[in-house]
Amino acid sequence: MDMFVPGKVKLAGEIEVSSSKNAILPILAASLLSDETKVIKNVPDIRDVTVITELIHHLGVKVDYQDRNLYFTGGATSQNPPYELVRLIRASFLVMGPLLAKKGFVRVALPGGCAIGTRPIDLHLKGFEALGAQVTLSGGDVIARADRLYGNHVYLDFPSVGATENIMMAASLAEGTTYIENAALEPEIVDLANFLNSMGARISGAGTNVIRIEGVRQLGSTDYTPIPDRIEAGTFMVAAAATGGDVIIKNVIPEHLKAVTAKLLESNAVVEEDDDQVRVYRVEEIKPVYIKTLPYPGFPTDMQAQFMAYLSLGKGSSVITESVFENRFMHVAELLRMGAKITTEGRTAVIQGIRELTGARVKATDLRAGAALLIAGLTARGPTIIMNSEHIDRGYENIVGKFNRLGANIMRT
Ligand code: UD1
Repeated sequence: MDMFVPGKVKLAGEIEVSSSKNAILPILAASLLSDETKVIKNVPDIRDVTVITELIHHLGVKVDYQDRNLYFTGGATSQNPPYELVRLIRASFLVMGPLLAKKGFVRVALPGGCAIGTRPIDLHLKGFEALGAQVTLSGGDVIARADRLYGNHVYLDFPSVGATENIMMAASLAEGTTYIENAALEPEIVDLANFLNSMGARISGAGTNVIRIEGVRQLGSTDYTPIPDRIEAGTFMVAAAATGGDVIIKNVIPEHLKAVTAKLLESNAVVEEDDDQVRVYRVEEIKPVYIKTLPYPGFPTDMQAQFMAYLSLGKGSSVITESVFENRFMHVAELLRMGAKITTEGRTAVIQGIRELTGARVKATDLRAGAALLIAGLTARGPTIIMNSEHIDRGYENIVGKFNRLGANIMRT
């Protein structure tokens, strides 16, 4: 599917951010830890959520989506999610911890998802092994088994978001206490811990680098509303600044956006924070900045591509270093097609600002790269056609509708 972006516009108005994709995906996986009814509220209609929901349905859980609420009834009867669904989305690997803990056995194909580097899962597996599971690889599938998991100290070599989540979920039903050391600090980790605790888990320390999980025998029902999507919010903030517009973004937790806000301020945009909304506008020239992506609370890798589109219009040269993923510059080639002046060496990109971008036919290679091209298209002279735009719909709810409310006039073709 293509997206047609007519070109230069100053975005203006208000939009509301949906619930966080990266909080919801693990929460949906965690729902497999209990056989009782779970209600997840205000769930966005995005493709990644649909895929995981379908996968959970395939595992034997009754699923209902009504008025933006997801109802899960009953527990899983299968321990083997279908490959056709797993390969679509990397986060499907997050069902491994819950199924292992609940069923004592799980078989999952090695994950697919965004093509942004090799993205190994060694830390997840080391964690399961530390809890006493036997892990083997067979025919492209990971198999893990354990009659019972036992609490332990698990040190992560890198504060991986997915590994922290998978281990936290598995440990919540283990016998004894688990400590995840050098755990990821992302707000989505805290949200998952809150969700698990709402089902009766005993987790403390989420949001710090040591998470303590006291195992319980079983988990119960819950009714839970996930946090707002900080990356969706950040994307609209950058779009407002890039187009020289003036946008109020509602349903945000400004605290989760500190790194993005700091870089926008440094680049001469104005960010006004309120309780649960931010207003972003820009009247002055874009000042070049230096960015290095890092685990939270550092600058999010999921905002790197969008900032690159923005900084390509800076007055001078900006530098972006991608330290989280080893191959996340696929958008560079597409931005070059729009006239941007960017060179890369290894994990560093130098962006020499130009006066304006020109519309072109470009390709969304992954979710955030697609968002970056959308932002670029909204600043460009002449129309941009974004091919493979379905990548964008994986993680942004009604993105065309939301941008059009701000005056963008984007069409799907
Ligand atoms: C999650 C987010 C993704 C975001 C990323 C980093 C979800 C569904 N996705 O992905 O949007 O870009 O966090 O903020 O929440 N690594 C290993 N071994 C492992 C696991 C990870 O080496 O076992 C490496 C990865 O290759 C990568 C880095 O650690 O270089 C970060 O990965 P991780 O934090 O695990 O990201 P995800 O959970 O996959």
